[in-house]
Amino acid sequence: MSENSNAKSRNSFSGSIGFVLAAAGSAVGLGNIWRFPYLAARGKGGLFLVIYLVLAVTFGFTLLTAEVAMGRKAKQSPLTAYKKLCKKSGFIGVLAALVPFIILPYYCVIGGWVIKYLVAYIIDTPAQIAADGYFTGFITQDVAPIITLVVFLAMVAFVVFRGVNNGIESFSKVLMPLLLIMVIGIAAFALTITHTDSAGVTRTGLQGLKVYLVPDLKNITPAIFFRTVVDAMGQLFFSLSVAMGIMVAYGSYVSDDAKLMKSINQIEIFDTAVAFLAGVMIIPTVYAFSGREGMDASGPSLIFVSLPKIFASMGFMGRALAVAFFAMVLFAALTSAVSVMEAVVASFIDKFGMSRTNACIVETIIGITGGIIVCLGYNKLYFEVSLPNGGVAQILDILDYISNSVLMPIVAISECILIGWILKPKFIIDEVEKTGDKFGRKYLFTAMIKYITPVLLLVILLQSLGLVKIG
Ligand code: PHE
Repeated sequence: MSENSNAKSRNSFSGSIGFVLAAAGSAVGLGNIWRFPYLAARGKGGLFLVIYLVLAVTFGFTLLTAEVAMGRKAKQSPLTAYKKLCKKSGFIGVLAALVPFIILPYYCVIGGWVIKYLVAYIIDTPAQIAADGYFTGFITQDVAPIITLVVFLAMVAFVVFRGVNNGIESFSKVLMPLLLIMVIGIAAFALTITHTDSAGVTRTGLQGLKVYLVPDLKNITPAIFFRTVVDAMGQLFFSLSVAMGIMVAYGSYVSDDAKLMKSINQIEIFDTAVAFLAGVMIIPTVYAFSGREGMDASGPSLIFVSLPKIFASMGFMGRALAVAFFAMVLFAALTSAVSVMEAVVASFIDKFGMSRTNACIVETIIGITGGIIVCLGYNKLYFEVSLPNGGVAQILDILDYISNSVLMPIVAISECILIGWILKPKFIIDEVEKTGDKFGRKYLFTAMIKYITPVLLLVILLQSLGLVKIG
């Protein structure tokens, strides 16, 4: 079959709610939970939040709109869409499809760690899980992390195998509302916490909330301000799942009469709300138990090392809270991983004319093989390298660096050039307005895609490559 495989037989979302929840499912992931609260705490609380919101409705909105509209216009997978829109831009499709291809194996390894913690909190005691070395002890084992990887990947593959409508959409319609309820519940609980530490100092969740929300403008230098802007931009970019083919793939399943603007706004609101609530959940909790210094952890060490210590000091409530927390994280990770796999599977289907079943089988085998190599990176294949951005890396971090820090900004910059200068912004505006939908921020979109967004992305890229140092 050719690259222009029959549009009629293409899977599609049943309606805009299905699309919004599936896309929000992709956007809401580990980044919302383990990185956003940390960056907010580091960015002087409210200052980061304000900058993030401004960037969300400008920078984030521009990239998300461009990708969804491109996908719907091309009705193709990321690998084939860019070439269909413009002959010379096939290379963007290759890079955009490469990103989820690289991400899937390691994302599933992390998903496996989440499963391990969820099960551990059901059968072990919080004190055992909080013991020093528990996390490292687990990820360096020979077999266990591979088993949890396979379990996680099997769940993801099953959903993708069932297709867009019966799989991804139905799954997101159940998990996303549940996830929202859980985040709200845990966040509300976090605000009721009071803790007195061994030095006799009592701190409350509400005080932590103040740290989160009230901008601490006293010690702000231009360098801190600029770093906060770059932090917010990098986070937003990752959080909206743009520049990795996903939103192009999902856009290609949206019907031609759907109103894109409304859906795009809803996706952004959902993603930002969950990130914000993750902050309400984590910052007050960490602040009450460990003070300001406790907020230095992010990424795996926040959820697999720091929070377990807090759960252990909460008594019975700690265990219940931990189960709810890891179930919620699992939901967030599953819906994101599903979108990553779908971007690759859609590309296999459109480019090579494979059936969905075969594409799923091939990608599952690749995911497991890659995932096993990632697991062995903490065991038989252990090594340490320094990355240009200053981090120390194992296999997982190297894959993460290549995909998120290098390829994604390159894809997004190329996209801005393609739309801003070659196809012209009107191309996207017409696609959005063809249903009579009004493109409210038309002029903003044009200025953003042509000038501002590519420059901001270039700053992210140069920082990742270690060529500029900020803050
Ligand atoms: N957008 C997700 C988040 O904020 C991350 C993600 C990564 C989603 C990779 C899909 C693929 O966590």
